[in-house]
Amino acid sequence: MVSEHAPQPAAQVLVASNRGPVSYALNEDGSLEAKRGGGGLVSGLSAVDDKMWVCAALGDGDREAVRRGVGEPGVRMLDIDADVHADAYNGIANSVLWFVHHLLYQTPVEPVFDAEFRRQWAAFETYNRAFAEALAEEAGEGAAVLVQDYHLVLVPGMLRELRPDLRIGHFSHTPWAPVDYFRLLPDDIAEQVLRGILGADRAAFLTRRWADAFIGCCTEILGGTGRTRIGVHGLGVDADFLRRRAHEADVDDRMAALREQVGPDRRTIVRVDRTELSKNIVRGMLAYRALLDERPEWRGRVVHVAFAYPSRQDLAVYREYTAEVRRVAADINAVHGTADWTPVVLHVKDDFARSLAAYRLADVALVNPIRDGMNLVAKEVPVVSDHGCALVLSREAGAYEELGDDAITVNPYDVSATADALHEALTMGDDERAERTERLAAAATALPPQQWFLDQLEALRQG
Ligand code: G6P
Repeated sequence: MVSEHAPQPAAQVLVASNRGPVSYALNEDGSLEAKRGGGGLVSGLSAVDDKMWVCAALGDGDREAVRRGVGEPGVRMLDIDADVHADAYNGIANSVLWFVHHLLYQTPVEPVFDAEFRRQWAAFETYNRAFAEALAEEAGEGAAVLVQDYHLVLVPGMLRELRPDLRIGHFSHTPWAPVDYFRLLPDDIAEQVLRGILGADRAAFLTRRWADAFIGCCTEILGGTGRTRIGVHGLGVDADFLRRRAHEADVDDRMAALREQVGPDRRTIVRVDRTELSKNIVRGMLAYRALLDERPEWRGRVVHVAFAYPSRQDLAVYREYTAEVRRVAADINAVHGTADWTPVVLHVKDDFARSLAAYRLADVALVNPIRDGMNLVAKEVPVVSDHGCALVLSREAGAYEELGDDAITVNPYDVSATADALHEALTMGDDERAERTERLAAAATALPPQQWFLDQLEALRQG
């Protein structure tokens, strides 16, 4: 099941994640096109030599690349059986573990842990084992292995059995569920998840709050965290990269196009998310609608620029949510729009340059997730903002711990309070907005990705 690449020298630093740093698109003429991803881990790992990234082949292009032996040095893509991967990724990781940590279940009717769940769980074990075996093969004696996220919670325990000499870390990029919610999982599965992570020497989280929730689960369910150390590393953003990238020509072009869409002398409320259930895009739009309904002075004077990029579209509930986002945006435009004013400008095609353009233009950024491990949009906006941007921030985002003082904070379920927060943000004085933005940018860049990664490595090696 796991396909072999040409042998590489044994690595001293290994990272494992479901989604790797590169993916391949299969063109119609049969050629493969490599696409490099961004994000904290890619940038964090760039600080390290002698490394190996183990990831899953995610689509036809990736699988074809593995079969043809196309790849990048230092990256090993695992061609795990497509059905096994689908059950593990869609069935367990994204429909169970993601739902548990983000409190997403409609509990009167779900979850239902039945025979189908057990079948998918077996696939999840197989998928985790494929990672553990590949890591065991690639790792040099005493190497440091940093296992990422909820997809791979069983890997530390499996890898420890195969290679007791390794230093193993696990990092959760999501929140961690409070114990009462975590206990929705069948007892044996809840234990297996915790013991899987506790196979690591060190388990780390984005905030103290998520670390404490994990400790709470371990204490109540297993009686403690055993020999595993717990760490907190709040990932920040790379200011130099973002500021440079935000001033390239393609971003300028997109700013001009966005300005045209917004119209002259109008304020902008910007949001940029994956179309993700936990991001709370619909309530954000309802809050914007409440602002227009209840404060007519804003009609014609503000535009909600919402970028909601497709995500996890294999799952019906994500497709339905995407449709709902479109419906609510269209409703607001139908009710409030005029010949020369479109109240909601919604874009659903992923475009990083356009996101940066929106960050630069934004008067207000709306980041209102119902729960979020960190949320880097909240950190990127103040760093690239042209004229200062007021941040409306959910207190349930991990970023709240670092940015809460200078943001206008909201309970993400409270649509009326969010509408009031939008009004407050829109009316904030220029000086205050600029000062707050400066402090937000300083907090957002306090732990840039390379340092974030090196700190983890250092802590892991020291223990
Ligand atoms: C979250 C997770 C990541 C994941 C990302 C995108 O940030 O913590 O592990 O890669 O969402 O989701 P996707 O399912 O497209 O990889």
